Amino acid sequence: METIEAINDRRSIRHFEDEPIPDDILRQILKAGCYAPSAHNSQPWKFIVLKGDKKNELGEAFLNISKEERYKEYTGFYVNRLLKYAGRIVKESPITIAVFNKGSFCGSASKYFRQSKKEVLHIMEVQSIAAAIENMLLACHDQGLGAVWLGVPLLVPQELIEDFFNTKNELMAIIPMGYPSKKRAIEKKIDIDKHIIYFD
Ligand SMILES: Cc1cc2nc3c(=O)[nH]c(=O)nc-3n(C[C@H](O)[C@H](O)[C@H](O)COP(=O)(O)O)c2cc1C
Repeated sequence: METIEAINDRRSIRHFEDEPIPDDILRQILKAGCYAPSAHNSQPWKFIVLKGDKKNELGEAFLNISKEERYKEYTGFYVNRLLKYAGRIVKESPITIAVFNKGSFCGSASKYFRQSKKEVLHIMEVQSIAAAIENMLLACHDQGLGAVWLGVPLLVPQELIEDFFNTKNELMAIIPMGYPSKKRAIEKKIDIDKHIIYFD
């Protein structure tokens, strides 16, 4: 698939066939993530690949979060609804990738950029990881797979994420992927000129 065609035709996919993703294709998708540009080549991403029971456990955690008394303060009606939706997608996907920020730019940059503000370095880590995520979404599409970038799990309490993944790294996104079970129409995007200003 041509790059521009892949960019134009990719759409979020939220329904999957019950069909496994071959290991070599998964590897290509992860490689696409790891080949993204990153601030000072810091490669701050960490990918945790979830399959089978562990993946379903994550889906269940999203589905059930609203029932947990101790998490009441974090969630409300709208977030609960989105988390339930996310839980269903995770459970239906053959593979879900959890994307974390290792903090390796903030960690190393103080050496090179002593005057830098920590929040600016953090923004650059987040931007680097967003580039990695988009690379993976495009690689999925190129391979005939569908995927969706889920941000709502970032609202899940940190203690649940730390316990589940056994990491203190910052969760950036959850990406369920698989072979699409429904053909999705490629809706038109907003007129691009609404987003662009030219300075001559
Ligand atoms: C940062 C970010 C967070 C997102 N979070 C969610 C989410 O929690 N749930 C969901 O269903 N889609 C989520 N999406 C997917 C968007 O809804 C989707 O990209 C947007 O509607 C445009 O549709 P398209 O991807 O088909 O072009 C997210 C996308 C981004 C970039």
